[in-house]
Amino acid sequence: MASREPINDLDLTQWREYDDILTDSLWLLGKRDNHGAHKPDYWGNFAPQIPYQAMRRFTRRGELVLDPFSGLGTTLIEARRLGRHAIGVELSPTVAETACERIEAQENPYTVRTALLQGDSACPQTAERVRCQMNEWGFEQAQLLILHPPYHDIIAFSDDPRDLSNAPTLEMFLKQFEQVVCNFASLLGTDRFLTLVIGDKYAGGEWIPLGFHTMEVVRRHGFRLKSICVKDFHETRGKRGQRSLWRYRALKGNFYLFGHEYVMFFEKMATAFQSVTT
Ligand SMILES: C[S@@+](CC[C@H](N)C(=O)[O-])C[C@H]1O[C@@H](n2cnc3c(N)ncnc32)[C@H](O)[C@@H]1O
Repeated sequence: MASREPINDLDLTQWREYDDILTDSLWLLGKRDNHGAHKPDYWGNFAPQIPYQAMRRFTRRGELVLDPFSGLGTTLIEARRLGRHAIGVELSPTVAETACERIEAQENPYTVRTALLQGDSACPQTAERVRCQMNEWGFEQAQLLILHPPYHDIIAFSDDPRDLSNAPTLEMFLKQFEQVVCNFASLLGTDRFLTLVIGDKYAGGEWIPLGFHTMEVVRRHGFRLKSICVKDFHETRGKRGQRSLWRYRALKGNFYLFGHEYVMFFEKMATAFQSVTT
């Protein structure tokens, strides 16, 4: 069997040295890293430790990372720190503009390229724009996809109907998400990784397992599941300071409060892609 190219820069003869690399599926990250240009002030941004772990484990320096829900650019800032090229897409023009300022404020010790495109990741033309940018930089394929979509409607990111957080039903949210997966999976190299970061939601007295629904969407598009990591989750600003009230509601309503979200890892298999039927 032909040996595969390494997908990271870890030297396994020195494997005991990598204390910073997680290998357990329970991620107790605690406080988010706020070094460099990272700031915790965007509702729904993820901890920089997540793209850090994904990039260190599944990319090499100089490779290319794509983030179709890039928000305030946590992935792109981290990519600069770690010497990975990165392209992000963000729907909201104001968020995209602020993200560009923050990314530029981050030192670029490895002189990598970063681009943030404003657009709808569910639209095939947006993926074409990403492909053009990749080709301009000399890349045929990307080496890692990081997907951190809205957790359906639990935070409204904008009034734009193309925003996944405005999908009127769970089915429509999943359909839009599927379109993003379909568009971006075709830009990823075979045997390379997709990271999905998502939490579940509660609606109408029922736990809605967004994580498992979206996991199935990714698996249908030529990916095999490699790991489901469960990460500690910190309350959104809205709920902060209302801990006792929510605890009371949980006791009264017979449910549990969310204390975790998922970081899932998938590997792209060498199979044909299904297209999304509308
Ligand atoms: C959970 S946040 C991602 C936050 C990001 N990981 C960060 O750390 O800043 C989801 C982002 O997806 C964006 N979004 C929603 N629908 C989109 C779409 N159709 N195309 C591109 N971006 C979209 C939202 O505006 C929001 O910024």
